[in-house]
Amino acid sequence: MKRAVLDELEKILGQERMSTKTADLYVYGFDASIHHKTPHVVVRPKDAHEVSEIVKLANRIRTPIIPRGAGTAMCGHTVPLKGGIIVDLTQMNKIKEVRIEDLYCVVEPGVVYDKLNAVLGKHGFWFPTSPGSGEACTIGGMVATNASGMRAIKYGATRDYVLGLEVVLPTGEIMHTGTRTLKNSSGYQLDRLMVGSEGTLGIVTEITLKLAFKPKASAMTLAAFDSLYDAGKCVSNIIKRPLMPSAIELMDSVCIKAVNKCMNVGLPDKAAILMIEVDGHPAAVEDELKIVEEICRQSGAVSTEPTRDKKRIDFWTYSRKAIMPALSRYGEKFVSVALADDMSVPISKIPEAVVAFQKIAERNGVVIGTYGHSADGNLHTKMLVEPFSQDSWRRGEKAVTEIFDKVIELGGTVTGEHGVSITKAPYMQKERADSIETMRRIKKALDPKNIMNPGKMFEWQGSIIAHLRYPAFSERAAPASVVDQEEHRACSK
Ligand code: LAC
Ligand code: ZN
Repeated sequence: MKRAVLDELEKILGQERMSTKTADLYVYGFDASIHHKTPHVVVRPKDAHEVSEIVKLANRIRTPIIPRGAGTAMCGHTVPLKGGIIVDLTQMNKIKEVRIEDLYCVVEPGVVYDKLNAVLGKHGFWFPTSPGSGEACTIGGMVATNASGMRAIKYGATRDYVLGLEVVLPTGEIMHTGTRTLKNSSGYQLDRLMVGSEGTLGIVTEITLKLAFKPKASAMTLAAFDSLYDAGKCVSNIIKRPLMPSAIELMDSVCIKAVNKCMNVGLPDKAAILMIEVDGHPAAVEDELKIVEEICRQSGAVSTEPTRDKKRIDFWTYSRKAIMPALSRYGEKFVSVALADDMSVPISKIPEAVVAFQKIAERNGVVIGTYGHSADGNLHTKMLVEPFSQDSWRRGEKAVTEIFDKVIELGGTVTGEHGVSITKAPYMQKERADSIETMRRIKKALDPKNIMNPGKMFEWQGSIIAHLRYPAFSERAAPASVVDQEEHRACSK
């Protein structure tokens, strides 16, 4: 990047809040995905005015610009594919207003999810979408990906809470969308367009969120099954009762073994478990817990363990949230990577989907851990690959293609909550074949110079195992091996 451009950035931000140090650029090239690419400069603006000035500069010199929160994205959203300017928004972390009587709050994009809930919780309210990365992820990132998590069945996703946004457009203009009222039919719902746009249409600098009432009580049961199919069936048996759970988390045996091995939490070592949570008025919670227990037994559960103890519920939730890092300790040679990681299927299709994923794993000689927010049909598969083996990555990619073909055949979507970016681009292009052109036109209208997070979603061409953070395809790569299957057999005993 030219010295003159860096000088202009320095005029906007000062020296303290920008960096071109090799180490900084290297780390800002990662997010939680399998990809890596180094940016030219990292900037840390403190308000919308600074963001606007930076974007105007990027627009003038046609340089890529990539907004970034905590970097917890799983598909490469904040990886600067074509270099350029990373806009780190974590310094914009103020909760500007909490208006209990009007049921909204106004936050900057760098506010961390759990921190917002700590503040709202004091008033008896919350932002209930519950992403797995809630300790770290930012509200701006959640808006960019329409993130959600465990409780979307009852409480919805981020888009259901966004009342209004302040957005710096690719020209540098500052635009306000939506309102601070709970209802609005006032023109195009541009905030809806921005939610899930993954930093390709502008940079969100302020978010108005609707508040939800926090339930007074909750309870959970841990149901174990000898069959993954039966566990999947139990989910739709609960829903069709009808009974509205606040969460049903499913874990298959690979995930159970990994968590037990890593954390020694003593989850039932069975084919599958469901963590089923109900919440609301204490009397209703008691009633619903009894009904859930009965449905679990009728659906073939071999054991259930109901609890109203908040510490126990938190402990189980904590062990569920530990799946991803725990999977990386499943075997010595593996790392767990976000491949085919967050498909959603109609709830009644879960049994067929989870069994199909296992067969695809076996057929392709890869190890897959399946878990997820089964109450709303959102599943996670994490693939265990040998990071330095080309063969392992290639088998993984083939399995991803087969998984997503199955998901689309079942009437599902390739991403329920993490978004598209790089790792899901080819499959989203297949799923959305007849709306891609409209997306392109919208992008072109708002960002004709294509500076905002370029090269992703509908623009991505080619294999998803490109720009890998591991040197599997460079001369430092290890020779391909098939030892992982032997190790899997040993681990699954
Ligand atoms: C979770 C993330 C991966 O649910 O979405 O843990
Ligand atoms: Zn999730």
